[in-house]
Amino acid sequence: MTDKLALLGGQPVISNPIDFEGHDFGTDDIDAVSKVIQSGEIGLGPEVKAFENEYANRYGIKYGISVNSGTSALHTCVAAMNPSPGDEIITTAWTSGGSIIGLLFQNCVPIFADIDDSYCLDPLDVERKITPRTKAILVVNLMGNMADVRKLREIADRHNIFLIEDCCQSHFAEDNGIVAGSIADISGFSFGGKHLNLGGGGMVLTNNKALWERAILFRDAALPRDGGPAEGKPYANQFLAPNYKMNDIMAAMGRTQLKKVDGYVESKIKSAKKIIDGLSNIKEITPQKVRAGVTHTYWLLSFTIDTNALHCTATEYAEAVSAEGIPTTGPYLLTPKIGPLSKNPFLSKPDLYGESKFPLDYNRENQVNYNETKLPYGNQLMSRNVNFIMTPNYSDNYIEKVIEAHHKVINHYR
Ligand SMILES: Cc1ncc(COP(=O)(O)O)c(C=O)c1O
Repeated sequence: MTDKLALLGGQPVISNPIDFEGHDFGTDDIDAVSKVIQSGEIGLGPEVKAFENEYANRYGIKYGISVNSGTSALHTCVAAMNPSPGDEIITTAWTSGGSIIGLLFQNCVPIFADIDDSYCLDPLDVERKITPRTKAILVVNLMGNMADVRKLREIADRHNIFLIEDCCQSHFAEDNGIVAGSIADISGFSFGGKHLNLGGGGMVLTNNKALWERAILFRDAALPRDGGPAEGKPYANQFLAPNYKMNDIMAAMGRTQLKKVDGYVESKIKSAKKIIDGLSNIKEITPQKVRAGVTHTYWLLSFTIDTNALHCTATEYAEAVSAEGIPTTGPYLLTPKIGPLSKNPFLSKPDLYGESKFPLDYNRENQVNYNETKLPYGNQLMSRNVNFIMTPNYSDNYIEKVIEAHHKVINHYR
């Protein structure tokens, strides 16, 4: 290997990029799915119910409500609170659009608070953003990390508002024994390419019976079903609600994958720790902060680089590492060029409902204007952010190559 970057025509650390399988899809999955198809009952049936129970049990939570995506899971969380138009939900701008699309469809208004070194909501800024119209805090446990959920729980309780947890990227992360999704009033999960991957789908968890009642109806066009909270009512849509149902084919696979997911998570944590250890002597790299007692489950391995000390941007850095045969991405949500979410066209040039500004101007003197959103800490932090997707199958040899590629790129840009 030469010191010359592959980006500049040098020899890459890995000449033929390796395509790692993210998940173990085996005969157990195929058999489970085949059985459902052979049964002829492929809609919402016994597999969905069993998967909901098994998933909720893994979290020690009473109710599991399966849905067809993480986006619909978060929409269902918000709809379960039955908010009024213009209600505010405080959240982070460093997250998937899927975290907030549902709340906008539910006529709520996202209010963005800044983040801290965990890349998750800064509780101090969340508290500053609370107004009489705040209905909930929607915390996102980003990249497999945990936000300071205990502090946010305390703030939510003090202000008598809901706490929603978006755990799409953080299945089975923990904060001092509190598993992601279990401290909130209601939480949402995605199964679209995450630790538990069903090619789509999602789940809502709650211990709150009133929230469960509205959520389970919401995901099913608010139609009365046997065993559900509207049982016995005439077959009619009870309130405005979409069809977000999961089916038995997906749920059957969810059940087999649930048996294997611990293995994936363990392996990702082990690999991430080895990589972080191998980069620890690079002073220009600062990994995402993991608070004491937190188990980060590493959907992504994420860090910031010191762009003052290095003669490159985070985008250039990620491109250079990728050229070495290690696929790596630049700032999350393309911060500060296009992201975070507050800068995305759907919010910065809002035309949410035709030409109206609803709900951003509903019952307010001044319309909420996301061009004025100020998130100074997150902006400077995340414009220096670099990410590496974790899979369960990284070999020790590959991990060494990852570390070698970063050292090579750092040495060049120093
Ligand atoms: C934090 C977060 N929330 C919500 C979503 C939306 O999930 P889905 O893509 O399953 O709709 C995602 C998906 O990447 C996510 O990462």
